[in-house]
Amino acid sequence: MPKERLPRHIAIIMDGNGRWANERHLPRHEGHRQGVERSREIMRACADLGIQFLTLYAFSKENWSRAKDEVSFLMKLLSNYLDVELREIHKTNIRFRMIGRLNDLPVDIQKKIRKGFEQTKENTGLTLLLALSYSSREEIVDAVKTIATEVKRGIISSDEINEKMVSDSLSTSGIPDPDLLIRTSGEFRLSNFLLWQLSYTEICILDKYWPDFTRNDLLQAIEIYGNRDRRFGRANELVAKVETHG
Ligand code: FPP
Repeated sequence: MPKERLPRHIAIIMDGNGRWANERHLPRHEGHRQGVERSREIMRACADLGIQFLTLYAFSKENWSRAKDEVSFLMKLLSNYLDVELREIHKTNIRFRMIGRLNDLPVDIQKKIRKGFEQTKENTGLTLLLALSYSSREEIVDAVKTIATEVKRGIISSDEINEKMVSDSLSTSGIPDPDLLIRTSGEFRLSNFLLWQLSYTEICILDKYWPDFTRNDLLQAIEIYGNRDRRFGRANELVAKVETHG
């Protein structure tokens, strides 16, 4: 695929770990363990392909209400993942970031994440964004509060509020919106993920559980994306003109 047809930013809702395990009469934990392995492989594949940004929905704000032992298993898994993966991430020139409420996470994980930011901030390859304790509605509410404070202080007037200002007040500030959203396990939902940022994103739903998702599935989703006609709400000829003239 020519480089200019590649998505710059891929976001993934990694769904179906539990069902994958259930179908095999395994504990849900095993599904999550396999899920982590797939995310390692997919991150590497994205880095190899020259994708610039990869956002993985690893733990939602709503996930805190799962059974206590599942939550603590997921936190342990995340902690181990950070121990092993951050070294690999740094070695392969990947920049690590997260979106979501860092302070909700266990303190030892917060420390590892902060260290990861520091270590990898100058890296120039793929940027990996992990969504952890993430809620898109909460992120939008935070942005509204930030902007309201600026209005209250007289820094801007309410008439000056525009889309760019909202985008710049989100945790993804400075990162281009996703071009391609992949969701596994055949569900047609956004699940409170990047609601603002996904406005013009191409969506690819795969009927496969996340632990079964392979590099080939990624390539297939990229191929589907490459063949889509992205119009951003405009007419065809207009898009061609905009693309030609910058
Ligand atoms: C979805 O499956 C997965 C999660 C809710 C969170 C855990 C995600 C991983 C372990 C993958 C990668 C993690 C890291 C740290 C990169 P589900 O439990 O919702 O499955 P179900 O809908 O079939 O029950």
